Amino acid sequence: MNREKAWRLRQRMMSAALRVMKQREPHLLEGPGSVLQIPAVLEEKGITRVMLVTSAGFIRRGTLIPLMDKLAGMDIGCEVFSEVMPDPSVHCAEKLHSLYKATGCEAFIAAGGGSVIDCTKIAAALCVRSKTVRQMRGTLQVMHKLPLLIAVPTTAGTGSEATAAAVITDTVKGVHYKYAVSDPCLIPHIAVLDPVLSLSLPPHHTAATGMDALTHAVEAYTNLYASDNVKKHALTAVKMIFADLEKTYEDGSDLGRRGRMLKASYEAGIAFTNNFVGYVHALSHACGALYGLGHGELNAAILPAVLEEYGEAVYGSLSEIAEAAGIEGQDQKERARNLISRIRAMNRYMGLDEKIRPLKQEDFEEIITRALSEANPAYPVPVIWGYKEAESVLRRLLAGNN
Ligand SMILES: [Fe+2]
Repeated sequence: MNREKAWRLRQRMMSAALRVMKQREPHLLEGPGSVLQIPAVLEEKGITRVMLVTSAGFIRRGTLIPLMDKLAGMDIGCEVFSEVMPDPSVHCAEKLHSLYKATGCEAFIAAGGGSVIDCTKIAAALCVRSKTVRQMRGTLQVMHKLPLLIAVPTTAGTGSEATAAAVITDTVKGVHYKYAVSDPCLIPHIAVLDPVLSLSLPPHHTAATGMDALTHAVEAYTNLYASDNVKKHALTAVKMIFADLEKTYEDGSDLGRRGRMLKASYEAGIAFTNNFVGYVHALSHACGALYGLGHGELNAAILPAVLEEYGEAVYGSLSEIAEAAGIEGQDQKERARNLISRIRAMNRYMGLDEKIRPLKQEDFEEIITRALSEANPAYPVPVIWGYKEAESVLRRLLAGNN
């Protein structure tokens, strides 16, 4: 059996396993003010001390004061950890874990973007496994029930509140690497989609995180073995994103739109946690670790270039996505191409770059090696690439003519 056939067999088995496992979904709390339902949930579960993980900005702006006041009013102790930075490090997760243990907390609330939620997932995993973070890298290395984990996304993009994965940045001999820890145990127990908390998200971040969510939906849908359930969640996300993202970018004050974007991100999260991402994310992780660029911005630039490189292999699936988004065309090929054009138009409208400015030709080998080792054979991508195809995508991102 040649290597590609062996990879496809492995992917099919993993896909079948995911269908049988039917990954649990978080219990959902939704709507304006839903974050204030958390204290009652904790009380019901007998939790007396909770670790609230967030970013320094949220503490500075006082956004979480109503939640903290309500916790205090119900005699639930609240420790705050607000040191999570974008692209959280292994060290940050270890520090959070140490503080959680030292303060006798019994549950986590992760209120923030994907970095905050991912860092909290890793810290929660450290609570139940006597492994290093690096030893938990990859799939099914946790396999123990986490302490109660409540995820409150404040950006509409990563979908981490719905997924079994956490991305962390590790450093080996001064070189930064991003990798994922993936295990159904990491799916948060409760997800709180409160649009009030995303009102302060600036337009650029609204755009970038929204394009990350779109990438999750498109990659999950175009990957092989997408189940009906995956397709349903992905298309729900796609419809909401095409309907609401640009309007939310223009005016972020509409609670209804903010709520729909949070739901879209959640739906896209459910889709990709059940059918993985693809080469857009693999290239994005490699470039993000090398250049320190934002994940959403990178995905926005890389997504159309990767879809073009896939070519006719994805015309069928892209055509279905296009139809869901109300994008027309005479045949599959035209609808697929119109969808890619529409994605580029969204990028331009929202001021997202179509090239990766720090990208250098001398880094190609490093980026491609990392990306292919992440994606092959883990992701059931529609076409298995070698160096040549990945290089072709990077060339277009370098030239900025994609
Ligand atoms: Fe992503």
